[in-house]
Amino acid sequence: MGMKADFKLIDDNGLRIDGRLPNQLRPLRMEVGVVQRANGSAFVEWGGNKIIAAVYGPREAYPKHIQDPNRAVIRARYNMAAFSVDERKRPGPDRRSVELSKVISEALTSVVFVERFPRTSIDVYIEVLQADAGTRVAGITAASLALADAGIPMRDIIVGCAAGKVDGVVVLDLNKEEDNYGEADVPMAILPRTGEIALLQMDGNMTYEELTNAMDMAIDAAKEIHELQVKALKEKYRGDEHDY
Ligand code: CDP
Repeated sequence: MGMKADFKLIDDNGLRIDGRLPNQLRPLRMEVGVVQRANGSAFVEWGGNKIIAAVYGPREAYPKHIQDPNRAVIRARYNMAAFSVDERKRPGPDRRSVELSKVISEALTSVVFVERFPRTSIDVYIEVLQADAGTRVAGITAASLALADAGIPMRDIIVGCAAGKVDGVVVLDLNKEEDNYGEADVPMAILPRTGEIALLQMDGNMTYEELTNAMDMAIDAAKEIHELQVKALKEKYRGDEHDY
């Protein structure tokens, strides 16, 4: 974000460098039940991002001092594989992954009925295999799908989606070049049923009006992304009478 591009990010026809309209998502594919040992899991391919999420629990929280007598503790761990980015990422946690793990844990905690599972932990592993901007929102989308696959009761299946600003235009779902050379990126997590926001971050600058446009764009897209989550669940549980 912030670097100046020596090429146009929006062409004379108003199209983006990958040919998308400002309010268009990158191609998105989802699958559930990809990790056999997990209680729930999901794979999300979103533009150039490839992300696996696996859920374990609710199970007795360990070490014991993290137990909460009133609710489950959701521990999300966001991790980028060393081979997921152009320049090898040094393995292990860094400031960025610690921050993302924290904000993702908080967003997921706001939708799960955690009070139903006192003293337990729900462990959510998010592994980024290939990164192409927007990994935290793709990670949240995969994580909530994995929670649903694990049968964990939630108010809604949360959706992650980013919007931002490139070459002065408010756009949905920034790709890597737009993330690098654009003016703003606003990752969000949204409850598609109500439009409630469970995560809102911002990198760069926008006016208040641009920000509300970006948020509206992401809230609209959340419904579309949610339909793909439901479709992925139905593909696995075809015939089951679930009401997602
Ligand atoms: O991935 P997300 O947009 O949520 O987070 P970011 O910190 O804004 O990173 C944007 C993109 O930069 C990532 O998706 C990666 O493609 C790339 N990146 C990288 O190449 N090396 C890193 N150590 C971190 C991020």
